[in-house]
Amino acid sequence: MIVAKTVEEVRKAHPAGKRIGFVPTMGFLHEGHLSLIDVARASGADFIIVSIFVNPRQFGPNEDFERYPRDETKDLALLESRNVDLLFFPAVDVMYPPGSQTTVQVGGVAKPLEGERRPGHFDGVATVVLKLFDIVQPDIAVFGRKDAQQCAVIERMVRDLDVPVRLVFGETVREADGLAMSSRNSYLSPDQRALAPVLQRALRAGERELASRNVEWVESAMRDVAKGVDVDYLVLVDPETFEPPSDFERDLLLAGAVRIGKTRLIDNIRVPQRR
Ligand code: PAJ
Repeated sequence: MIVAKTVEEVRKAHPAGKRIGFVPTMGFLHEGHLSLIDVARASGADFIIVSIFVNPRQFGPNEDFERYPRDETKDLALLESRNVDLLFFPAVDVMYPPGSQTTVQVGGVAKPLEGERRPGHFDGVATVVLKLFDIVQPDIAVFGRKDAQQCAVIERMVRDLDVPVRLVFGETVREADGLAMSSRNSYLSPDQRALAPVLQRALRAGERELASRNVEWVESAMRDVAKGVDVDYLVLVDPETFEPPSDFERDLLLAGAVRIGKTRLIDNIRVPQRR
């Protein structure tokens, strides 16, 4: 595996005539991240590039940028074991050299839910992802549905700015008890970890109530299950707009965020059009 730390090193290693599949991450890799490498291959990529960059611009001032978990040695071994061709592992000043003045700002879909609770977060995500696309120049880029609103924001940006990349979305990989894998799960104490699957259980409870066709009913079923934790939101939305659904006949998304101690967890269930 080639390890590139600068833009020039990526450009030099860029193979001609290969279909490049790209998986951007913030590292502390788990099976959820690694599954996206498989999705890239299954989508036709034959040269896999993964990036690890804990992007300061997508963290708010009171968020966990400083303590975000990192394990370079383990990440490298995991990527080697999955036969990744190139790791892009830039320092902050490679991505944001002094003097940088440009930001990508996505409108509508980036505003509710995560956008409302984490001001500036999606601007940071969109900016870094567009920069990574420009550096890596992938044919295919893969993102996980665990971050459903992030997928929608990037999809919107790619369309609005005519970015020449094919986006593919991978399903959420979960622990045996249903908890969505996340680098942030490492913050949880054993007691908190035992509580964490309540988020997935709440979303499932909401899904069971969809036949009621009543948003309030569905959302209150989710809140009932999540009584023991600090709920940030548990909502039923339209997966394109992230606003309340106008129509139960279309695709629906049950989305939630809870706080367990200092750790904020998100998850969602996508329900395709009338099963
Ligand atoms: P990070 O949280 O490291 O996630 C990297 C990618 O892995 C994202 O596309 C995310 O949705 C996906 N992912 C995380 N957990 C997953 C799981 N349990 N199952 C499937 N996919 C999962 O998301 C980011 O980093 C950043 O915002 C980034 C896109 C890299 C921009 O900085």
